[in-house]
Amino acid sequence: MTITDLINRSMPPKPWDEGDNIPWDDPQLSERMLQEHLCQDHDAASRRFEKIDQHVDWIHQHLLSCQPTRIHDLCCGPGFYTSRLARLGHECVGIDYSPASIRYAIAQASEQNLSCRYYLGDIRGADYGTNYGLAMLIFGEFNVFSPEDAKHILKKILAALAQNGLLLLEAHTLAAVRKKGQEENCWHCVDQGLFSDHPYLFLEEGFWEPQGKTTTKRYYIIDARTGKVQRHAQSLQAYTKSEYRSILEDHGFVHVEFFPSLIGEEDASQSDLIAIVAAKEAGK
Ligand SMILES: C[S@@+](CC[C@H](N)C(=O)[O-])C[C@H]1O[C@@H](n2cnc3c(N)ncnc32)[C@H](O)[C@@H]1O
Repeated sequence: MTITDLINRSMPPKPWDEGDNIPWDDPQLSERMLQEHLCQDHDAASRRFEKIDQHVDWIHQHLLSCQPTRIHDLCCGPGFYTSRLARLGHECVGIDYSPASIRYAIAQASEQNLSCRYYLGDIRGADYGTNYGLAMLIFGEFNVFSPEDAKHILKKILAALAQNGLLLLEAHTLAAVRKKGQEENCWHCVDQGLFSDHPYLFLEEGFWEPQGKTTTKRYYIIDARTGKVQRHAQSLQAYTKSEYRSILEDHGFVHVEFFPSLIGEEDASQSDLIAIVAAKEAGK
């Protein structure tokens, strides 16, 4: 698109109409994103290892009572959770559509001889396999899917779980989704960053749509050399706690429980997210 297209953009954007997400599956973007996952200076792409260790302890001890099981991590990134869970005796499978993350996860599993299998794929279309004791979709990714896709993913998870299998969702609070949409628009100059190895201008705008409870973010990347504009958009669906409960119960889950974080208690550094645990209903 051109700068004129940017100036004449439609207002407000229709959620999920301008693309599903930032294209994390783009090979070059995924390479640069992998560096962000590995970076221990921030929690933007994955949480720092110290925090992941705490999450994994809680999952292993509290959710799984230290009993080895089969775990499927949906949107696993570079496999930071699966590799740790495998070291605790679980058999893990991870899926992600980022080629660099999956390549890294496979290399780590092979170097460390871990019981982890990874595959590259979009969780909306992939075959998850069956008989898992736990399926997890964490770090707020559930909200990024349109309600239709989110329901489809829940159906696939239910089919992939063993009897009494558990679902662990770490999802955004309604307030967090609203806050993202109401953030001030901003821009900054980047010499070399996530979206390009060359200098660019980065513009960001957000919209909160209270009726449908959605936030849509638009990102414009303007190449300093060519003036060419790339636009990416990402929408998030907000849910109240009772909506989370209903959507899970409507899709064959029972015993829905809410926790303040993935360590089971309030965690000030993760207050935008809650952990939701539910079990597959017998006979489903
Ligand atoms: C914020 S990262 C979190 C990664 C990992 N769960 C963690 O906490 O370290 C979100 C991940 O979701 C992946 N992702 C987003 N949409 C996806 C989709 N439709 N199918 C597969 N992976 C997806 C991205 O590639 C990215 O690795």
